[in-house]
Amino acid sequence: MAGKLIAGNWKMNGSVTFATELVEGLLGKLNEGSVSSDFVVCPPAALLGTVLSLTKDTDLAVGGQDCHANVSGAHTGDTSAELLKDIGCGYVITGHSERRTDHGETNVDVNAKSAAAIKAGLTPIICIGETEEERVSGGTLNVIKLQVTESLPDDCDPDNIVLAYEPVWAIGTGKTATPEDVADVHNFIRSLLNDRFGEDAAKKIRILYGGSVKPENAAELLAVSNVDGALVGGASLKVEDFWAIGVR
Ligand code: PGA
Repeated sequence: MAGKLIAGNWKMNGSVTFATELVEGLLGKLNEGSVSSDFVVCPPAALLGTVLSLTKDTDLAVGGQDCHANVSGAHTGDTSAELLKDIGCGYVITGHSERRTDHGETNVDVNAKSAAAIKAGLTPIICIGETEEERVSGGTLNVIKLQVTESLPDDCDPDNIVLAYEPVWAIGTGKTATPEDVADVHNFIRSLLNDRFGEDAAKKIRILYGGSVKPENAAELLAVSNVDGALVGGASLKVEDFWAIGVR
């Protein structure tokens, strides 16, 4: 596995001007010298064209925030994985908790979307994570096990999938899981992947942590065992903050 993967989920934020400034700022940083982390930005669909034209032939990768499970058809407002690939994306986030909540996406849906992404040649960043209620009731590991088992497509190549553990209660709240909590869940996820793919293959899968990651807590979180990167929301909207999470 290469360095850490630092993925920025812009969510429904930005404008052409904002995207241009942010991407130019990141490209300026990347041009200053080689860095050990890989960076990917996931802007809203309407800004993908703007971002892709700026990042062509650079080391800044681009991803969508969602894709449809079908290749094409009567699905107003949706974007296929094939189209994301066609315009130049390398990644797509699937199963983000906001999609699961706002759009009722189930593990079965996430599985189908992730399978479509893989088939199209994209790397899905498959999101899982427990709610506060599930954590308080002691159900975290059961929820994680079910999500990992059901959300990962049958024929996925460990080289080409990324998992993101994002405790729902930590997303956008400023609350972060403690390094101990993160270690427990990430080690557990790795053991599930070992069981499914075998250790050699499973260690190629990057497991990102997400939920209020910022420059102040990034070093501590990224040092936890089996944390191979971060999925960053709010702090990915500022060049300095996003950069500081991946490069210290
Ligand atoms: P946050 O979002 O960093 O703003 O908590 C993370 C995410 O939702 O991916």
